Amino acid sequence: MEITHDLYIGDCEDELKRIHDNSVDLIFTSPPYADQRKKTYGGIHPDDYVEWFLPKTEQMLRVLKPTGTFVLNIKEKVVNGERSTYVMELILAMRKQGWLWTEEFIWHKKNCYPGKWPNRFRDAWERLLQFNKHRKFNMYQEEVLVPMGEWAKTRLKNLSKTDQTRDESKVGSGFGKNISNWLTRDKAYPTNVLHLATECNNKNHSATFPEGLPEWFIKLFTQVGDTVLDPFMGSGTTNIVANRMLRNSIGIEIVQEYYQMVKSQISPVQFSLFESKKELVLNSLPIYLTSGPLSQACRGKNGYVKLSQTHS
Ligand SMILES: C[S@@+](CC[C@H](N)C(=O)[O-])C[C@H]1O[C@@H](n2cnc3c(N)ncnc32)[C@H](O)[C@@H]1O
Repeated sequence: MEITHDLYIGDCEDELKRIHDNSVDLIFTSPPYADQRKKTYGGIHPDDYVEWFLPKTEQMLRVLKPTGTFVLNIKEKVVNGERSTYVMELILAMRKQGWLWTEEFIWHKKNCYPGKWPNRFRDAWERLLQFNKHRKFNMYQEEVLVPMGEWAKTRLKNLSKTDQTRDESKVGSGFGKNISNWLTRDKAYPTNVLHLATECNNKNHSATFPEGLPEWFIKLFTQVGDTVLDPFMGSGTTNIVANRMLRNSIGIEIVQEYYQMVKSQISPVQFSLFESKKELVLNSLPIYLTSGPLSQACRGKNGYVKLSQTHS
């Protein structure tokens, strides 16, 4: 098996056309938010945002596998004392384009800046919108289990009668729960809220997200050897994490400086994959980072080495 790393410089609307149909397992990205960061990489007016974004999502729809997932990190800002509605408009337009809006995750920024505003509180969360092509998509829920924690000790200690049997949904949805099923387990499925601090990681980019964010979704929606795409690559957080997790990655960036930065930072990754230990947890795989030109490839004694490619 060989892990690849493809970088493209240019507008993702054009560069995406170079990617094959149905070839990507996960698109994870954070585009420029409307009217923000004008000075660094241009801003799009909220009224123009949907029109600007749709040709790009059309390409994303084409390159995503039928079993794949698109996760879009975005948050509308306040304009004239009101929340802008362009994200909602975008969701509706994308649904018309053929996407299913499957879920919305919340990234709770644990360390957001303190502050006071006359008519609102600190903004401490961002949206992660999940879109799919079909209702059935790849999802590896066991990969993101969380410790049961204190909840198990208190809530499960004194189970009511209802909790000891299956509690059918009151709204007739067909979904029910039997809480006693969880008594003997030490892990539970997580919620759709992720609590992660923003990271000041000296990446020379003003809008990086924490590595834990792509990492969680890469675990949830992909497996080793799958392909992850970030069409608004920035400092390459998604790509760096994807490669560390032994996923192929594709990154597109319009600003030459950021593209060069990622190009120089991602070095060929040499790792050994011991066939007999395939079940090893990723983190325990031996990974050796080496420096050298991106096109360099070397073969390790017991496995294979990543061959990186760049496109300009
Ligand atoms: C919010 S930042 C992404 C930050 C990234 N998630 C990280 O952790 O570094 C958005 C990036 O998209 C780039 N960009 C803006 N318009 C683009 C376009 N049309 N095609 C490709 N990249 C674009 C910007 O230059 C910027 O680096």
